[in-house]
Amino acid sequence: MALSWSAKEHKNTNQPAVATGLKRPRNDVGNKVAVVLGAQWGDEGKGKVVDLLATQADVVCRCQGGNNAGHTVVVDGKEYDFHLLPSGIINPKSISLIGNGVVIHLPGLFEEGDKNEKKGLKGWEKRLIVSDRAHLVFDFHQVVDGLQETERQAQEGKNIGTTKKGIGPAYSSKASRTGLRVCDLLGDIKDFSSKFKNLVRQYQSMYPSLTVDVEDQLKKLKEYGERLRPMVRDGVYYMYEALHGSPKKILVEGANAALLDIDFGTYPFVTSSNCTVGGACTGLGIPPLNIGDVFGVAKAYTTRVGIGAFPTEQLNAVGELLQTRGHEVGVTTGRKRRCGWLDLVIVRYAHMINGFTAIALTKLDILDVLEEIKVGIAYKLHGKRIPHFPANMDVLQKVEVEYETFPGWKTDTSAARKWGDLPVKAQNYIRFIENHIGVPIKWVGVGKSRECMIQMF
Ligand code: GDP
Ligand code: IMO
Ligand code: MG
Repeated sequence: MALSWSAKEHKNTNQPAVATGLKRPRNDVGNKVAVVLGAQWGDEGKGKVVDLLATQADVVCRCQGGNNAGHTVVVDGKEYDFHLLPSGIINPKSISLIGNGVVIHLPGLFEEGDKNEKKGLKGWEKRLIVSDRAHLVFDFHQVVDGLQETERQAQEGKNIGTTKKGIGPAYSSKASRTGLRVCDLLGDIKDFSSKFKNLVRQYQSMYPSLTVDVEDQLKKLKEYGERLRPMVRDGVYYMYEALHGSPKKILVEGANAALLDIDFGTYPFVTSSNCTVGGACTGLGIPPLNIGDVFGVAKAYTTRVGIGAFPTEQLNAVGELLQTRGHEVGVTTGRKRRCGWLDLVIVRYAHMINGFTAIALTKLDILDVLEEIKVGIAYKLHGKRIPHFPANMDVLQKVEVEYETFPGWKTDTSAARKWGDLPVKAQNYIRFIENHIGVPIKWVGVGKSRECMIQMF
Protein backbone atom coordinates (compact mmCIF):
# COMPACT_ATOMS: atom_id res chain seq x y z
CA MET A 1 0.00 0.00 0.00
CA ALA A 2 1.31 3.44 -0.92
CA LEU A 3 2.10 5.63 2.00
CA SER A 4 -0.05 8.68 2.43
CA TRP A 5 0.60 11.64 4.69
CA SER A 6 -2.86 13.12 4.35
CA ALA A 7 -5.16 13.43 7.32
CA LYS A 8 -8.02 12.17 5.17
CA GLU A 9 -6.39 8.76 4.79
CA HIS A 10 -6.69 8.25 8.54
CA LYS A 11 -10.40 8.93 8.41
CA ASN A 12 -11.47 5.42 7.51
CA THR A 13 -9.35 3.62 10.07
CA ASN A 14 -12.24 3.72 12.52
CA GLN A 15 -9.87 4.07 15.40
CA PRO A 16 -11.45 4.73 18.75
CA ALA A 17 -10.45 7.70 20.85
CA VAL A 18 -6.77 7.34 21.65
CA ALA A 19 -6.04 5.14 24.59
CA THR A 20 -4.26 7.81 26.60
CA GLY A 21 -7.56 9.33 27.58
CA LEU A 22 -7.07 12.40 25.40
CA LYS A 23 -10.60 12.31 24.03
CA ARG A 24 -10.25 12.81 20.33
CA PRO A 25 -10.68 10.47 17.39
CA ARG A 26 -7.64 9.72 15.24
CA ASN A 27 -9.13 11.54 12.26
CA ASP A 28 -9.41 14.88 14.07
CA VAL A 29 -6.45 16.96 13.00
CA GLY A 30 -7.71 19.94 14.95
CA ASN A 31 -7.29 23.65 14.36
CA LYS A 32 -4.71 24.87 11.90
CA VAL A 33 -2.05 27.32 12.93
CA ALA A 34 -0.89 30.26 10.78
CA VAL A 35 2.81 31.09 10.98
CA VAL A 36 4.48 34.42 10.18
CA LEU A 37 8.19 34.17 9.37
CA GLY A 38 10.98 36.50 8.32
CA ALA A 39 12.23 35.67 4.82
CA GLN A 40 15.44 37.73 4.89
CA TRP A 41 17.84 38.81 7.69
CA GLY A 42 15.20 40.08 10.09
CA ASP A 43 13.27 43.33 10.59
CA GLU A 44 11.07 42.65 7.59
CA GLY A 45 7.99 43.97 9.38
CA LYS A 46 6.81 40.74 11.03
CA GLY A 47 5.38 42.70 13.97
CA LYS A 48 3.14 44.69 11.68
CA VAL A 49 1.89 41.61 9.81
CA VAL A 50 1.23 39.78 13.09
CA ASP A 51 -0.63 42.80 14.43
CA LEU A 52 -2.84 42.79 11.36
CA LEU A 53 -3.72 39.11 11.77
CA ALA A 54 -3.84 39.28 15.56
CA THR A 55 -6.94 41.45 15.45
CA GLN A 56 -8.82 38.21 14.64
CA ALA A 57 -6.62 35.71 16.48
CA ASP A 58 -7.52 33.86 19.67
CA VAL A 59 -3.94 32.90 20.53
CA VAL A 60 -0.69 34.54 19.38
CA CYS A 61 2.51 32.61 20.14
CA ARG A 62 6.25 33.12 20.12
CA CYS A 63 8.13 29.87 19.47
CA GLN A 64 11.85 30.75 19.40
CA GLY A 65 14.44 33.44 20.01
CA GLY A 66 14.37 35.83 22.91
CA ASN A 67 14.61 39.56 23.38
CA ASN A 68 17.10 39.76 20.51
CA ALA A 69 13.93 40.31 18.45
CA GLY A 70 12.51 43.80 18.05
CA HIS A 71 9.04 44.00 16.52
CA THR A 72 7.38 47.34 15.89
CA VAL A 73 3.64 47.84 15.86
CA VAL A 74 2.00 51.19 15.17
CA VAL A 75 -1.63 51.52 16.24
CA ASP A 76 -3.60 54.79 16.42
CA GLY A 77 -0.38 56.76 15.96
CA LYS A 78 1.25 55.05 18.97
CA GLU A 79 4.41 53.04 18.36
CA TYR A 80 5.03 49.92 20.44
CA ASP A 81 8.17 47.78 20.32
CA PHE A 82 8.01 44.17 21.43
CA HIS A 83 10.99 41.96 22.14
CA LEU A 84 9.78 38.96 24.14
CA LEU A 85 6.07 39.63 24.24
CA PRO A 86 4.18 38.43 21.16
CA SER A 87 3.00 41.48 19.17
CA GLY A 88 -0.55 40.13 19.53
CA ILE A 89 -0.49 41.23 23.20
CA ILE A 90 -1.94 44.49 21.90
CA ASN A 91 -5.24 42.74 21.14
CA PRO A 92 -7.25 42.65 24.40
CA LYS A 93 -9.30 39.70 23.09
CA SER A 94 -6.41 37.33 22.40
CA ILE A 95 -4.10 35.25 24.58
CA SER A 96 -0.36 35.54 24.08
CA LEU A 97 1.78 32.47 24.58
CA ILE A 98 5.54 32.26 25.02
CA GLY A 99 6.48 28.71 24.06
CA ASN A 100 9.13 26.28 25.23
CA GLY A 101 11.47 27.19 22.35
CA VAL A 102 11.85 30.78 23.56
CA VAL A 103 14.64 31.81 25.93
CA ILE A 104 13.36 34.25 28.53
CA HIS A 105 15.28 36.98 30.33
CA LEU A 106 12.85 37.70 33.16
CA PRO A 107 14.04 41.25 33.97
CA GLY A 108 13.75 42.02 30.24
CA LEU A 109 10.23 40.56 30.05
CA PHE A 110 8.85 42.61 32.95
CA GLU A 111 10.68 45.75 31.88
CA GLU A 112 9.13 45.42 28.45
CA GLY A 113 5.64 44.86 29.83
CA ASP A 114 5.90 47.76 32.26
CA LYS A 115 7.26 50.09 29.57
CA ASN A 116 4.40 49.26 27.22
CA GLU A 117 1.90 49.57 30.08
CA LYS A 118 3.01 53.19 30.45
CA LYS A 119 2.19 53.64 26.75
CA GLY A 120 -1.33 52.35 27.34
CA LEU A 121 -1.04 48.55 27.07
CA LYS A 122 -3.45 47.36 29.73
CA GLY A 123 -3.83 43.97 31.38
CA TRP A 124 -0.97 42.25 29.54
CA GLU A 125 -0.03 40.03 32.50
CA LYS A 126 -3.55 38.54 32.49
CA ARG A 127 -3.33 37.74 28.77
CA LEU A 128 0.15 36.21 28.84
CA ILE A 129 0.86 32.49 29.19
CA VAL A 130 4.41 31.22 29.57
CA SER A 131 5.49 27.63 28.98
CA ASP A 132 7.07 25.93 31.97
CA ARG A 133 9.56 24.33 29.58
CA ALA A 134 11.01 27.64 28.36
CA HIS A 135 14.67 28.17 29.25
CA LEU A 136 15.85 31.15 31.24
CA VAL A 137 18.41 33.72 30.15
CA PHE A 138 20.35 34.99 33.16
CA ASP A 139 22.15 38.31 33.47
CA PHE A 140 25.47 36.47 33.33
CA HIS A 141 24.48 34.91 29.96
CA GLN A 142 24.25 38.48 28.67
CA VAL A 143 27.64 39.37 30.16
CA VAL A 144 29.12 36.22 28.59
CA ASP A 145 27.58 37.19 25.23
CA GLY A 146 29.63 40.42 25.42
CA LEU A 147 32.77 38.58 26.54
CA GLN A 148 32.45 36.12 23.66
CA GLU A 149 32.12 38.99 21.20
CA THR A 150 35.30 40.59 22.60
CA GLU A 151 37.07 37.25 22.36
CA ARG A 152 35.98 36.72 18.75
CA GLN A 153 37.22 40.19 17.89
CA ALA A 154 40.59 39.51 19.54
CA GLN A 155 41.04 36.01 18.09
CA GLU A 156 39.59 36.29 14.59
CA GLY A 157 39.55 40.03 14.05
CA LYS A 158 35.76 39.99 13.71
CA ASN A 159 32.77 39.39 15.92
CA ILE A 160 29.20 38.34 15.02
CA GLY A 161 27.59 41.59 16.02
CA THR A 162 25.13 39.90 18.38
CA THR A 163 22.47 41.84 20.24
CA LYS A 164 24.28 40.94 23.50
CA LYS A 165 20.99 39.72 24.96
CA GLY A 166 22.57 36.44 26.04
CA ILE A 167 20.83 34.41 23.34
CA GLY A 168 23.82 32.32 22.20
CA PRO A 169 25.00 31.49 25.75
CA ALA A 170 21.45 30.61 26.91
CA TYR A 171 20.83 28.25 23.98
CA SER A 172 24.33 26.81 24.61
CA SER A 173 23.33 26.05 28.21
CA LYS A 174 20.13 24.44 26.89
CA ALA A 175 22.02 22.28 24.37
CA SER A 176 24.65 21.27 26.92
CA ARG A 177 21.85 20.29 29.33
CA THR A 178 22.91 22.58 32.12
CA GLY A 179 20.29 25.23 31.38
CA LEU A 180 17.52 26.11 33.81
CA ARG A 181 13.89 26.34 32.87
CA VAL A 182 10.82 28.15 34.14
CA CYS A 183 9.63 24.92 35.81
CA ASP A 184 12.94 24.74 37.73
CA LEU A 185 12.56 28.28 39.02
CA LEU A 186 9.01 27.57 40.16
CA GLY A 187 9.91 24.20 41.65
CA ASP A 188 12.18 23.47 44.59
CA ILE A 189 14.11 26.71 45.08
CA LYS A 190 16.96 24.93 46.92
CA ASP A 191 17.49 22.66 43.97
CA PHE A 192 17.25 25.62 41.59
CA SER A 193 19.81 27.58 43.65
CA SER A 194 22.29 24.74 43.64
CA LYS A 195 21.94 24.23 39.85
CA PHE A 196 22.24 27.99 39.31
CA LYS A 197 25.46 28.08 41.34
CA ASN A 198 26.87 25.17 39.31
CA LEU A 199 26.02 26.94 36.09
CA VAL A 200 27.72 30.13 37.28
CA ARG A 201 30.82 28.14 38.28
CA GLN A 202 30.88 26.49 34.89
CA TYR A 203 30.88 29.85 33.13
CA GLN A 204 33.42 31.32 35.55
CA SER A 205 35.80 28.49 34.77
CA MET A 206 35.52 29.46 31.10
CA TYR A 207 35.55 33.22 31.73
CA PRO A 208 37.60 33.96 34.87
CA SER A 209 36.79 37.68 34.66
CA LEU A 210 33.06 36.91 35.11
CA THR A 211 31.78 38.11 38.47
CA VAL A 212 28.29 37.20 39.62
CA ASP A 213 26.63 38.23 42.87
CA VAL A 214 24.95 34.85 43.22
CA GLU A 215 22.84 35.62 46.31
CA ASP A 216 21.55 38.88 44.85
CA GLN A 217 20.72 37.14 41.56
CA LEU A 218 18.88 34.33 43.35
CA LYS A 219 16.88 36.81 45.43
CA LYS A 220 15.81 38.71 42.31
CA LEU A 221 15.04 35.54 40.38
CA LYS A 222 12.83 34.32 43.18
CA GLU A 223 10.88 37.60 43.09
CA TYR A 224 10.54 37.45 39.30
CA GLY A 225 9.47 33.82 39.61
CA GLU A 226 6.61 34.74 41.93
CA ARG A 227 5.44 37.47 39.55
CA LEU A 228 5.63 34.98 36.69
CA ARG A 229 3.92 32.09 38.49
CA PRO A 230 0.28 32.97 37.63
CA MET A 231 1.18 33.03 33.92
CA VAL A 232 2.93 29.68 33.80
CA ARG A 233 1.28 26.61 32.25
CA ASP A 234 2.28 23.31 30.77
CA GLY A 235 2.74 24.76 27.28
CA VAL A 236 2.28 21.47 25.46
CA TYR A 237 -1.06 20.74 27.11
CA TYR A 238 -2.20 24.33 26.65
CA MET A 239 -1.44 24.09 22.93
CA TYR A 240 -3.08 20.66 22.68
CA GLU A 241 -6.27 22.08 24.12
CA ALA A 242 -6.09 25.12 21.86
CA LEU A 243 -5.65 22.87 18.81
CA HIS A 244 -8.39 20.43 19.71
CA GLY A 245 -10.96 22.48 21.58
CA SER A 246 -13.48 24.75 19.93
CA PRO A 247 -12.48 26.35 16.60
CA LYS A 248 -9.70 28.83 17.28
CA LYS A 249 -7.45 31.08 15.26
CA ILE A 250 -3.89 30.43 16.36
CA LEU A 251 -1.02 32.52 15.10
CA VAL A 252 2.71 31.98 15.50
CA GLU A 253 4.98 35.02 15.34
CA GLY A 254 8.44 34.09 14.13
CA ALA A 255 11.38 36.07 15.47
CA ASN A 256 14.63 36.78 13.63
CA ALA A 257 14.55 35.24 10.13
CA ALA A 258 15.47 32.44 7.71
CA LEU A 259 18.94 33.79 6.92
CA LEU A 260 19.65 34.03 10.67
CA ASP A 261 18.49 30.44 11.33
CA ILE A 262 21.07 28.34 13.18
CA ASP A 263 20.81 25.55 10.57
CA PHE A 264 19.93 27.36 7.35
CA GLY A 265 21.25 30.88 7.87
CA THR A 266 24.57 32.46 6.93
CA TYR A 267 26.43 30.47 9.60
CA PRO A 268 28.24 31.48 11.79
CA PHE A 269 26.69 34.95 11.40
CA VAL A 270 23.33 33.75 12.63
CA THR A 271 21.30 33.58 15.81
CA SER A 272 21.04 30.43 17.92
CA SER A 273 17.53 29.15 17.20
CA ASN A 274 15.50 27.79 14.29
CA CYS A 275 13.71 30.78 12.83
CA THR A 276 12.21 28.69 10.03
CA VAL A 277 8.93 26.75 10.06
CA GLY A 278 10.25 23.76 12.03
CA GLY A 279 10.80 26.11 14.97
CA ALA A 280 7.03 26.60 15.22
CA CYS A 281 6.57 22.85 15.82
CA THR A 282 9.48 22.29 18.20
CA GLY A 283 9.08 25.60 19.99
CA LEU A 284 5.42 25.09 20.87
CA GLY A 285 4.73 21.36 20.62
CA ILE A 286 2.61 21.71 17.48
CA PRO A 287 2.34 18.63 15.24
CA PRO A 288 3.33 19.41 11.61
CA LEU A 289 -0.19 18.46 10.43
CA ASN A 290 -1.55 21.44 12.33
CA ILE A 291 0.56 23.93 10.41
CA GLY A 292 -1.70 25.77 7.99
CA ASP A 293 -0.69 29.01 6.27
CA VAL A 294 2.97 29.97 6.37
CA PHE A 295 3.33 33.66 5.63
CA GLY A 296 6.78 34.90 4.61
CA VAL A 297 7.54 38.55 5.29
CA ALA A 298 10.01 40.27 2.97
CA LYS A 299 10.95 43.91 2.58
CA ALA A 300 10.86 45.38 -0.93
CA TYR A 301 14.65 45.73 -0.47
CA THR A 302 17.10 44.01 1.90
CA THR A 303 18.61 44.96 5.26
CA ARG A 304 20.93 43.25 7.68
CA VAL A 305 22.11 44.15 11.19
CA GLY A 306 25.45 42.84 12.32
CA ILE A 307 28.25 41.15 10.44
CA GLY A 308 28.19 38.66 7.56
CA ALA A 309 27.92 38.30 3.79
CA PHE A 310 25.29 40.43 2.07
CA PRO A 311 25.57 40.03 -1.72
CA THR A 312 23.16 42.82 -2.74
CA GLU A 313 24.44 45.35 -0.16
CA GLN A 314 24.79 48.87 -1.56
CA LEU A 315 27.66 50.74 0.07
CA ASN A 316 26.76 53.87 -1.85
CA ALA A 317 24.11 56.58 -2.17
CA VAL A 318 21.37 54.00 -2.81
CA GLY A 319 22.20 52.16 0.43
CA GLU A 320 22.23 55.46 2.32
CA LEU A 321 18.90 56.49 0.86
CA LEU A 322 17.29 53.20 1.83
CA GLN A 323 18.76 53.51 5.32
CA THR A 324 17.54 57.05 5.92
CA ARG A 325 14.16 56.85 4.12
CA GLY A 326 13.47 53.46 5.66
CA HIS A 327 14.59 54.59 9.14
CA GLU A 328 16.69 51.45 9.15
CA VAL A 329 17.90 51.45 12.73
CA GLY A 330 17.77 48.32 14.89
CA VAL A 331 14.81 48.26 17.32
CA THR A 332 16.80 46.27 19.89
CA THR A 333 20.30 47.66 19.56
CA GLY A 334 19.86 51.05 17.89
CA ARG A 335 22.49 50.06 15.31
CA LYS A 336 22.20 51.31 11.71
CA ARG A 337 21.01 48.51 9.44
CA ARG A 338 23.03 47.71 6.35
CA CYS A 339 20.91 48.17 3.20
CA GLY A 340 20.79 46.84 -0.34
CA TRP A 341 18.58 45.76 -3.22
CA LEU A 342 15.96 43.06 -2.85
CA ASP A 343 17.68 39.68 -3.18
CA LEU A 344 15.27 37.11 -4.58
CA VAL A 345 17.86 34.35 -4.27
CA ILE A 346 17.56 34.52 -0.48
CA VAL A 347 13.76 34.84 -0.49
CA ARG A 348 13.50 31.79 -2.78
CA TYR A 349 15.89 29.95 -0.47
CA ALA A 350 13.69 30.88 2.51
CA HIS A 351 10.71 29.56 0.54
CA MET A 352 12.49 26.23 -0.15
CA ILE A 353 12.77 25.72 3.61
CA ASN A 354 9.49 27.20 4.80
CA GLY A 355 7.07 26.45 1.96
CA PHE A 356 5.39 29.85 2.11
CA THR A 357 1.72 29.89 1.20
CA ALA A 358 1.79 33.67 0.71
CA ILE A 359 4.13 36.63 1.06
CA ALA A 360 3.78 40.02 2.73
CA LEU A 361 5.94 42.52 0.86
CA THR A 362 6.63 45.46 3.16
CA LYS A 363 8.09 48.95 2.81
CA LEU A 364 7.32 49.38 -0.88
CA ASP A 365 6.86 53.12 -0.14
CA ILE A 366 10.54 53.49 0.68
CA LEU A 367 11.36 52.89 -3.00
CA ASP A 368 9.00 55.68 -4.17
CA VAL A 369 11.73 58.21 -4.97
CA LEU A 370 14.16 55.98 -6.87
CA GLU A 371 14.92 56.53 -10.58
CA GLU A 372 15.54 52.86 -11.07
CA ILE A 373 15.22 49.79 -8.88
CA LYS A 374 17.27 46.64 -9.07
CA VAL A 375 16.40 43.15 -7.94
CA GLY A 376 18.95 40.37 -7.48
CA ILE A 377 17.66 37.32 -9.36
CA ALA A 378 20.59 34.89 -9.46
CA TYR A 379 24.11 34.30 -8.15
CA LYS A 380 27.04 33.53 -10.41
CA LEU A 381 30.28 31.83 -9.44
CA HIS A 382 33.16 31.96 -11.91
CA GLY A 383 30.74 33.35 -14.48
CA LYS A 384 28.21 30.51 -14.12
CA ARG A 385 24.79 30.68 -12.44
CA ILE A 386 24.47 28.49 -9.36
CA PRO A 387 21.08 26.95 -8.57
CA HIS A 388 21.51 26.78 -4.78
CA PHE A 389 22.29 29.17 -1.93
CA PRO A 390 25.92 28.61 -0.84
CA ALA A 391 26.50 27.19 2.64
CA ASN A 392 30.07 28.43 2.82
CA MET A 393 30.44 32.10 3.74
CA ASP A 394 33.66 32.51 1.77
CA VAL A 395 31.79 31.35 -1.32
CA LEU A 396 28.85 33.65 -0.56
CA GLN A 397 31.27 36.59 -0.26
CA LYS A 398 32.47 35.82 -3.79
CA VAL A 399 29.20 35.43 -5.68
CA GLU A 400 28.37 37.90 -8.39
CA VAL A 401 24.74 39.00 -8.36
CA GLU A 402 22.73 39.09 -11.55
CA TYR A 403 20.18 41.92 -11.43
CA GLU A 404 16.94 42.76 -13.18
CA THR A 405 16.46 46.54 -13.44
CA PHE A 406 13.07 48.25 -13.19
CA PRO A 407 12.15 51.88 -13.83
CA GLY A 408 11.20 53.69 -10.61
CA TRP A 409 7.55 54.83 -10.31
CA LYS A 410 8.52 58.13 -8.66
CA THR A 411 5.08 58.49 -7.09
CA ASP A 412 4.06 58.60 -3.43
CA THR A 413 2.42 55.25 -2.68
CA SER A 414 1.83 55.86 1.04
CA ALA A 415 -1.86 56.67 0.54
CA ALA A 416 -2.56 53.60 -1.64
CA ARG A 417 -5.09 51.27 -0.02
CA LYS A 418 -5.86 48.91 -2.87
CA TRP A 419 -4.03 47.35 -5.81
CA GLY A 420 -5.54 49.80 -8.30
CA ASP A 421 -4.14 52.76 -6.32
CA LEU A 422 -0.57 51.67 -7.05
CA PRO A 423 1.28 53.04 -10.08
CA VAL A 424 1.58 50.51 -12.93
CA LYS A 425 5.38 50.46 -12.56
CA ALA A 426 5.02 49.47 -8.91
CA GLN A 427 2.47 46.81 -9.90
CA ASN A 428 4.96 45.42 -12.42
CA TYR A 429 7.66 45.33 -9.75
CA ILE A 430 5.37 43.40 -7.40
CA ARG A 431 4.21 40.95 -10.07
CA PHE A 432 7.80 40.24 -11.07
CA ILE A 433 8.69 39.38 -7.47
CA GLU A 434 5.63 37.17 -7.12
CA ASN A 435 6.40 35.25 -10.31
CA HIS A 436 10.06 34.89 -9.50
CA ILE A 437 9.44 33.43 -6.03
CA GLY A 438 6.43 31.45 -7.20
CA VAL A 439 4.34 32.45 -4.18
CA PRO A 440 1.36 34.83 -4.21
CA ILE A 441 1.87 38.21 -2.58
CA LYS A 442 -1.04 38.69 -0.20
CA TRP A 443 -0.13 42.03 1.33
CA VAL A 444 1.89 45.05 0.23
CA GLY A 445 3.06 47.50 2.90
CA VAL A 446 3.14 51.21 2.09
CA GLY A 447 3.60 52.72 5.55
CA LYS A 448 4.15 52.00 9.22
CA SER A 449 0.62 51.88 10.53
CA ARG A 450 -1.99 49.13 10.54
CA GLU A 451 -4.05 50.61 7.72
CA CYS A 452 -1.03 51.03 5.40
CA MET A 453 -1.29 47.48 4.15
CA ILE A 454 -2.84 46.65 0.81
CA GLN A 455 -4.55 43.26 0.90
CA MET A 456 -4.45 41.62 -2.51
CA PHE A 457 -6.80 38.70 -1.93
P1 GDP B 1 10.25 42.98 12.56
O1 GDP B 1 11.41 42.73 13.45
O2 GDP B 1 10.23 42.06 11.38
O3 GDP B 1 8.93 42.99 13.28
O4 GDP B 1 10.45 44.44 11.96
P2 GDP B 1 10.98 45.75 12.76
O5 GDP B 1 9.87 46.28 13.56
O6 GDP B 1 12.27 45.48 13.41
O7 GDP B 1 11.33 46.69 11.55
C1 GDP B 1 10.40 47.05 10.58
C2 GDP B 1 10.25 48.57 10.56
O8 GDP B 1 9.58 48.96 9.39
C3 GDP B 1 9.42 49.10 11.70
O9 GDP B 1 9.90 50.37 12.05
C4 GDP B 1 8.02 49.20 11.10
O10 GDP B 1 7.21 50.20 11.73
C5 GDP B 1 8.35 49.61 9.70
N1 GDP B 1 7.42 49.16 8.67
C6 GDP B 1 6.79 47.96 8.57
N2 GDP B 1 6.11 47.89 7.41
C7 GDP B 1 6.30 49.07 6.78
C8 GDP B 1 5.87 49.59 5.52
O11 GDP B 1 5.18 48.94 4.74
N3 GDP B 1 6.31 50.86 5.20
C9 GDP B 1 7.08 51.60 6.04
N4 GDP B 1 7.46 52.80 5.65
N5 GDP B 1 7.50 51.12 7.23
C10 GDP B 1 7.12 49.88 7.58
P1 IMO C 1 13.78 40.53 14.51
O1 IMO C 1 12.86 39.49 15.13
C1 IMO C 1 17.69 41.57 12.89
C2 IMO C 1 21.10 39.25 14.37
C3 IMO C 1 22.07 40.11 15.18
C4 IMO C 1 23.37 39.36 14.92
C5 IMO C 1 22.92 37.90 14.88
C6 IMO C 1 23.13 37.15 16.18
O2 IMO C 1 13.57 41.90 15.01
O3 IMO C 1 13.75 40.42 13.02
P2 IMO C 1 21.96 37.23 18.57
O4 IMO C 1 21.84 38.35 19.55
O5 IMO C 1 20.65 36.65 18.14
O6 IMO C 1 22.92 36.17 19.02
O7 IMO C 1 22.64 37.91 17.28
O8 IMO C 1 21.55 37.92 14.56
N1 IMO C 1 19.70 39.33 14.82
C7 IMO C 1 18.77 40.09 14.24
N2 IMO C 1 18.84 40.97 13.24
N3 IMO C 1 16.50 41.33 13.47
C8 IMO C 1 16.40 40.43 14.47
O9 IMO C 1 15.23 40.07 15.03
C9 IMO C 1 17.57 39.79 14.93
N4 IMO C 1 17.83 38.87 15.88
C10 IMO C 1 19.13 38.59 15.81
O10 IMO C 1 22.11 41.42 14.69
O11 IMO C 1 23.87 39.69 13.64
MG1 MG D 1 13.06 43.70 14.27
